[in-house]
Amino acid sequence: MAWGPHNVRKWSTLALLAIMGTALTAAIKPGFVATISRKGLDFACREGVAVLQKELEAIKIPDFSGVFKMKHLGKGYYSFFSMAVDGFQIPNPQISLLPGEGLQLSINDANIKMHGRWKSRKNFFKASGKFGLSIQGVSISADLKLGRNPSGHISVSCSTCSSHIDSISVRISGSMLGWLIQLFHRKIEASLRNIIYKKICKIVTSSVSSKLQPYVQTLPLIARVDEVAAVDYSLMALTTTAEFLEGQLKGEFFWRGHRSPLPISPTAMSFSPNNDHMVFLSISDYFFNSAGFAYQEAGSLKITLRNQMLPMDSKFQLNTEFLGTFLPRVAMKFPGTEVQLLISASLPPHLSIQSSGLLLDPALETQAFVVLPNSSLVPLFLLRMNTNASLAVDAEADRLVGEMKLDKLMLELKQSNVGSFKVELLQAAINYLMPTVVLPKINERLRRGFPLPLPAGVHLNNLMLQSYQNFLVLGADVNRT
Ligand SMILES: *[C@@H]1O[C@H](CO)[C@@H](O)[C@H](O)[C@H]1NC(C)=O
Ligand SMILES: *[C@@H]1O[C@H](CO)[C@@H](O)[C@H](O)[C@H]1NC(C)=O
Repeated sequence: MAWGPHNVRKWSTLALLAIMGTALTAAIKPGFVATISRKGLDFACREGVAVLQKELEAIKIPDFSGVFKMKHLGKGYYSFFSMAVDGFQIPNPQISLLPGEGLQLSINDANIKMHGRWKSRKNFFKASGKFGLSIQGVSISADLKLGRNPSGHISVSCSTCSSHIDSISVRISGSMLGWLIQLFHRKIEASLRNIIYKKICKIVTSSVSSKLQPYVQTLPLIARVDEVAAVDYSLMALTTTAEFLEGQLKGEFFWRGHRSPLPISPTAMSFSPNNDHMVFLSISDYFFNSAGFAYQEAGSLKITLRNQMLPMDSKFQLNTEFLGTFLPRVAMKFPGTEVQLLISASLPPHLSIQSSGLLLDPALETQAFVVLPNSSLVPLFLLRMNTNASLAVDAEADRLVGEMKLDKLMLELKQSNVGSFKVELLQAAINYLMPTVVLPKINERLRRGFPLPLPAGVHLNNLMLQSYQNFLVLGADVNRT
């Protein structure tokens, strides 16, 4: 085979496509995946059909009238009016997955009960009465096309709908002639079959656009977390397979003050849902680490420890006398002066998720200051605090909550304005302050939690959490609040 320019071009095109392919797949990895199992779809189906049923029960049947002709006697008039649906029973709605497309709603053996009034006139002869109607074996099949609209919301529309009516039975009351009853049977059956048949799919289609579409739009694209941060839960892709429906969401925290691209990206999460739970939320380490970046960028990951924050039973005070035990020069230069510790994360905290648990590297530092009587701060030294931390994650009705645990801290002097000293002498004090003063504040924030992407009016229960390499899976059932 000759390697002419033509072939070279073809190969470079292929190579380019391959690169673009990887670039695209690399770019679209989600930080958060919501998978709805069959069990979840069955729940959604029951909830959705309950709404649809109300809409169907509100079918308005227009009055209709006509003329009948009889041999020898000539023309007469009839009309049917005040017709209303008493009930629309939908015994066993089913939802099935159409891989790559969406969902199919199937209703079989539904029945409709209706009532109405009739009247008839033929010259001098007038008659009127009531009728009852039972429509049996109503079946409806509707395809719901699911997708993503440009803003990142789920879009849902009814792409095809068909309905069928097996039989209609009419009971007519009122004094009249047998032939008129026969005539009315035919008229009512034919007209109502036609009207209802047409209305059913109209109602299904309009319920999807006026009820279901707005409802799925209540899934937050951007969920506000607090004054500092929000989570971007916009939909990147929606997939239907034969087994489940999967929404791939961005799952990225950002600082509400200023959003900038992150130097990290999500890794792939591979998880096969079962039917033990209705939904499975796969939450990547990226999700948590983007939170670290957001709070770090906002400058929120710091706390100033002042003397008055120490517990009553503290064995030491944050002042120069205490520092004087290992920094006598500081005690001499600033006698009886308060000392402040600014504890902060020098880097965004990094969380790694393993099947054994969640390990956190908080990258903590402490800057010590002397507080002058006019409130000016004089920097003393900067310590690095090496520790291993772990994060326990749990979920509540609509949020993720956490609790951090810190191991012992090992101090290291990074920089000093007051000469070097043995940091070990401070270790006991810091290891007392962190769990008694600092950690409770962090955990108070973690307990308040972070919002999960749920549509309006639902909460999670029956929760299960499992960690895998680089991600966490939260299995849950859904309830209405
Ligand atoms: C605070 O007092 C110190 C020492 O007396 C002085 O050097 C500093 O300028 C003062 N700062 C302010 C803001 O007044
Ligand atoms: C953190 O854990 C690692 C491995 O278990 C250990 O080698 C290291 O000394 C620990 N660091 C601290 C500061 O406890």
